Amino acid sequence: MRITLQPSGAVLELQPGERFLDGARRLGYDCPQSCRNGNCHICSALLLQGRARQAGVELEHGELQTCLAEPLSDSVLQWYGVLAPGELPRRRLACQLIDCCAVGGDVWRVRLRAPAGKLPRYHAGQYLLLERADGELSAFSLASAPHTGRELELHILAREPGTQVLLEQLQREQVARVQLPFGDTHLAELPDGPLLLLAAGTGMAQMHSLLEHCRASGFRHPVHLYWGARRPEDFYQLAHWADWEQMANVHLHRVVSDQCGWGGRCGLLHQAVREDFADLAGLHVYASGSPAMIYATLDALVEAGMDPSQMRADVFAYAPRS
Ligand code: FES
Repeated sequence: MRITLQPSGAVLELQPGERFLDGARRLGYDCPQSCRNGNCHICSALLLQGRARQAGVELEHGELQTCLAEPLSDSVLQWYGVLAPGELPRRRLACQLIDCCAVGGDVWRVRLRAPAGKLPRYHAGQYLLLERADGELSAFSLASAPHTGRELELHILAREPGTQVLLEQLQREQVARVQLPFGDTHLAELPDGPLLLLAAGTGMAQMHSLLEHCRASGFRHPVHLYWGARRPEDFYQLAHWADWEQMANVHLHRVVSDQCGWGGRCGLLHQAVREDFADLAGLHVYASGSPAMIYATLDALVEAGMDPSQMRADVFAYAPRS
C-alpha cells in the first residue's frame, strides 16, 4: 500500500497488515516514538485521505497513533517530525563570528563557531540559511565539512550591495543566526567510484566541503575538481588547495572562460571535461553554479554520453527546468 507523507511528500510502500510506524522504520525513516502502545501520543499523525484501522476501529479521517494503526488503502498522512533515511533534523543556531577576511576575487571567507553543546549536524555539500537584519534569509553553501565540528566556513562574494550589507552586519554584530542543514546534493555516503566536481566561482564552497570530506574520510577513488572563473583574478585563496595538490588521487584544474593566455586553461568547464574524458561512464558528478551554467553543463555532458542521473546539483531542486 502506498502511503504519502505530508508535508515531505515522501511515499512509503507498506506491506499488508503492517502498522504505519513499523513500515516507516523498516524503510529506514526516523520517526517520533516512545511507548509504542498508544499511550504517549508522540507518534500521532493525521489521516487526510484513505482508510486505516486502529485497535479494531476503522478510520477515514482524523488523528491516529501510527504505532497502532495500519492502512486499509492507499493513504495520505500528515505526520510531522519524520526524517527520511540520511536526513538530518534542522536547527537554528546563533553562531559566533571568529573570522571574516577578504581572500581575493571580491570573496570573503567567513568562519563561524556554533555554541558549545550544539554541534551542527550536516552532510558535506549541504547549505545553510543566514538570517539578515531585515528578517530575509540568504542561502550559502557550507564550505566546511562535518569533521570540523562546531566550526563552519562560508565563501561570500561581495559584489552586490546586499551582500556587502550582510558582511557589515556580521562584523558589527559578531553573531550569525543560521538555520541548517538544507540541500540534497551531498555526500552522506561516499560513492564506490570516481568523483567529478564542477564549480563556478563561489560554487567552489560546496566542492570545498565535498573534497575536505573525502580527504578526512580517506576516500581512495579519483577526484577530479574543475574550478571555473571568468578571469584569473577571480580565483580566490583556499586554505586547503596546497593539501589537495599533495593527494595522489586528487586532480585539480582551474579554467578561465573570458581570457586565454593567462598561463592556464581557458574555455568552459564542460569543454575542459570533454577534452579530458573520452568516456564519462561511472563518474559521480557534482556541480555548483548558476542555473544557466548548470543546465549548459548538463546538456553538454549528456551529449558526450553521460546519463543525466549521474549529475547532482542544488539547481535541479531550486530552479527546475520545465
Ligand atoms: S509511540 Fe506512544 S502512542 Fe505511539
